[in-house]
Amino acid sequence: MQTEILDAINGDYSFAVQKAAEILKSGGIVGIPTETVYGLAASAYDDAAIAKVFAAKGRPQDNPLIVHISDMEMLSSVATDIPESAYKMAKAFWPGPFTMVLKKTSAVAQSVSRGLDTVAVRMPCEKTAHDIIKVSGLPLAAPSANISGAPSPTTANHVINDLSGKIDAVVVGNDCEVGVESTVVLMVGEHPRLLRPGAVTLEQLKEIAPDIVVDKAILNQPEKDEKVSSPGMKYKHYAPKTETYLVEGDFGQFCDFVNSKTDCVAVCFEEEAEKIAVKKLVYGSKSSPETLAKNVFSVLRDVDKLNVKKVFVHAPAKTGVELAVYNRLIRAAAFKVVEL
Ligand code: TXA
Ligand code: MG
Repeated sequence: MQTEILDAINGDYSFAVQKAAEILKSGGIVGIPTETVYGLAASAYDDAAIAKVFAAKGRPQDNPLIVHISDMEMLSSVATDIPESAYKMAKAFWPGPFTMVLKKTSAVAQSVSRGLDTVAVRMPCEKTAHDIIKVSGLPLAAPSANISGAPSPTTANHVINDLSGKIDAVVVGNDCEVGVESTVVLMVGEHPRLLRPGAVTLEQLKEIAPDIVVDKAILNQPEKDEKVSSPGMKYKHYAPKTETYLVEGDFGQFCDFVNSKTDCVAVCFEEEAEKIAVKKLVYGSKSSPETLAKNVFSVLRDVDKLNVKKVFVHAPAKTGVELAVYNRLIRAAAFKVVEL
């Protein structure tokens, strides 16, 4: 299949949006920019299109998709029995990098939720994503637009590298502003439950929902055969091909540790970079945690270009947006953590 490149930056923006919407309406699948990561979109009403998304990504069959909407009217087409607390969350965090799991309507294709009676819903704030949903008039199911298991895509080139020839089109937009996937909160049940941390932080969520609980799968490896609230949590994820370790310790300890190693690359903070004597990739500044989120996936992709045996990533904190980065890195490292 020839993948059409629709350039919304240097080409005709309206044409790119219109063409993407047409492809989606006729059952095709399209890589689109969002503020978090690039998504691989398909109509949430179309089982055949959803099947193409799973095939292109090589996605595990039991891992459900997030449905993207452009306004509150669309929310009522895809979700039902919406609790008052969900409207409060929507008012605080939509549009933006925030997803809620709600009871689904029968309009949503069965294959979106993979047999669950719930649907994950997000209203993105990135203009191109918003406009494609609006113009198509369709809620769009979209997982991250990468090969399953690989680091998520934060630029159009990442999508093209992973999926060219397997999908109908890619809309080339800006690099993703946030860089990690949306915060996911389960809104069905007695208390809201954080299933995946993101740029909407736990601290912010507590201001709206003080009773929120944190799913233990966020930082811990699920037991074999354990039933998890979010199927996506149990898979190896975001991983470079190079053997990856997450390393906990202060600046000095991290530098001493990596400097004693050979045939490796250190993924480090800007503040410690000059003290590191082995190969290194900087993923952002400790004093600006958003930079860590924005760059983490592209740096994990760059690791494999260096042809080394191991990568040691200096662990971020487990608070604020750094918790989201930590959650991705511990999976990229398949839960291999070195504590200094
Ligand atoms: O930022 C994002 O959310 C990006 C962009 C494209 O919007 N999308 C994204 O999709 O990250 P994906 O498929 O990579 O992650 C979806 C996550 C998975 O962990 C999945 O298990 C969970 O959401 N999920 C989806 N539907 C669910 C449901 N009904 N119940 C529980 N978890 C669900
Ligand atoms: Mg993903």
